[in-house]
Amino acid sequence: MSSPFSSAALAPKDPIFGINEQFAADTRDGKVNMSIGMYMDENGKVPLLQCVRAVEKMLAETPKARAYLPIDGLRVYDQNVQKLVFGVDSDAVKAGRVATVQALGGTGAIKVGADLLHKLMPGARVLVSDPTWGNHRGIFTQAGFQVGTYRYYHAARRTLDFDGMLADLRAAPVGSIVILHACCHNPTGYDLNAAQWGQVIEVAKERGLTTFLDMAYQGFADGITEDGAVIGQFIAAGVNVLVSNSFSKNFSLYGERVGALSVVCTDKEEAGRVLSQLKLVVRANYSNPPTHGATIVAQVLADPKLRAQWEGELAAMRQRIKSMRQQLADGLKAAGVKQDMGFITTQVGMFSYSGLSKEQMQRLRQDHAVYGLDSGRLCVAALNPHNIAHVCKSIAAVM
Ligand code: LMR
Repeated sequence: MSSPFSSAALAPKDPIFGINEQFAADTRDGKVNMSIGMYMDENGKVPLLQCVRAVEKMLAETPKARAYLPIDGLRVYDQNVQKLVFGVDSDAVKAGRVATVQALGGTGAIKVGADLLHKLMPGARVLVSDPTWGNHRGIFTQAGFQVGTYRYYHAARRTLDFDGMLADLRAAPVGSIVILHACCHNPTGYDLNAAQWGQVIEVAKERGLTTFLDMAYQGFADGITEDGAVIGQFIAAGVNVLVSNSFSKNFSLYGERVGALSVVCTDKEEAGRVLSQLKLVVRANYSNPPTHGATIVAQVLADPKLRAQWEGELAAMRQRIKSMRQQLADGLKAAGVKQDMGFITTQVGMFSYSGLSKEQMQRLRQDHAVYGLDSGRLCVAALNPHNIAHVCKSIAAVM
């Protein structure tokens, strides 16, 4: 009897996790992992935040049984997510017109949103930025959509291509779904300013676009409120947006898979119907979410002392990345790079879109044990005083 799996083709490795695996298998001393979007501390370690440690200590002292959570997750978590993402004074939240479900990280939140949208508008075209986080295309394709792109980055100028973006959104078929990065655009590190967001919102209204804000890095550009401000702009303009958010990065809880999807609806009654649909999607995918990570996040967000501690720890991560950006730009100059690399300090978030070619990125890995993505994306949040000199020397050598 032939195997039912004989037609399974060998899939290519994931462009991010595949490189991360290669890094793990590399036995060279001094290797540097700038491939995956993970913040690492001064010693090159993924930090366990003090606020997380404090809650875990409390949880360990009073262990609790783990019954199933509701399909939409821990209620106190969903409530605190709404306060964080939409602000404590959000009228939309107060009016009960935001439907929020706990999700498996930002990826899980986007998947739930994609499945919901496919039920509601199966024929719509999805547009992602060019370039975007590689998994956007995968998630929406698997949900059943045709995925296209809108211009976002001007490679020759190494800047945001805002005119191109706006033109492509204006030309999008009426009713398209547009995936936008709320802050810390992945991979380019170039965000829109408030005035530019205003223009995008106007086009979204004109073309009847469904907008989906992916916010995986809240707090890594300018601050928690500043990074989430765009959401208020959409709501104030009367646009019913979807928002995915993640606590992988800003709580350093990557492996716990803690995130949420929020859908802003017209009124409370519509939000109730949308929530019922989201619950169908979750139930059919993984039934209900896990307890641990969400319990930690909810406790930290709800307790003023822990919350202040978290904000301090997040600010320290943000500032350290900024300082490493400056050191990278300076270090490259000192290592003999003639090209102006000042753009590294104007990009925000965890990444620098370096402009290095695939071939240069391969040489970086092979000859220097410095791992970034083939697209030229480098995670500057992985730099530290011990590895920066090697990274600068290595980049200079391949340029
Ligand atoms: C990244 O872009 O490297 C991270 O968001 C990790 C991931 O899931 O791809």
